[in-house]
Amino acid sequence: MARIRACVFDAYGTLYDVHSAVRRLAAEIGPAAEPLSRDWRARQLEYSWVRSLMGRHVDFWTVTGEALDTAMALHGLEDNDLRRRLLDAYRRLSAYPEVTGVLRQLKSKGLAVGVLSNGSPEMLADAASSAGLDHWIDMTWSVEAVGVYKPDARVYQLACDGLRLAPEEISFQSSNRWDAAGAANFGFHVVWVNRAGLPDEYRFAGPVQAVTDLSYLANVIDPPVWRPAEA
Ligand code: 2OP
Repeated sequence: MARIRACVFDAYGTLYDVHSAVRRLAAEIGPAAEPLSRDWRARQLEYSWVRSLMGRHVDFWTVTGEALDTAMALHGLEDNDLRRRLLDAYRRLSAYPEVTGVLRQLKSKGLAVGVLSNGSPEMLADAASSAGLDHWIDMTWSVEAVGVYKPDARVYQLACDGLRLAPEEISFQSSNRWDAAGAANFGFHVVWVNRAGLPDEYRFAGPVQAVTDLSYLANVIDPPVWRPAEA
């Protein structure tokens, strides 16, 4: 990874635990909590892909609300106050425990640290500040700049344009295997954060390096070669 000059991270599922929103209200929700959270996430992603294929983009906050409505209906949980509190919790997701330390180490090596996400700019700003990560993130790119969701190549191009780097100079980290595949297909060096120990898939799209959490990164990226691009 000697040629890597920037580390760019997926947000939801990679830096932030998407299930931490429902977990905060799990005692109230009961046994439906875990399947509710799983269905919420699955529908959120499904809606992003379907809308992109149809050319019917709306921002990720809208998609997240639509997905929650379906997930709550699936589990017989129609309750406007619960819906409001779940969405509020989704704006303040917990970061995974190793994240702050890893970002700090990468920055101390002189690497650029970025976030490239489906999330709307407002969601990403709220997530970073509530998790205390904003200090460690140099740049954030939202799909809102191109109006289409991952894994469309135009999304990954945002990081190359913003950093003025070639894809192979960027290490992209995602726990979403389909997103890792999109990034590998685009030409990034890709680290798949396989937190759940899932079987590999999407091998046709290009190589990915599988790790169990992000702490691996801080030890393998060579320092410090990144310089900010001239304005
Ligand atoms: C993200 O773009 C895919 O949810 C994932 O943050």
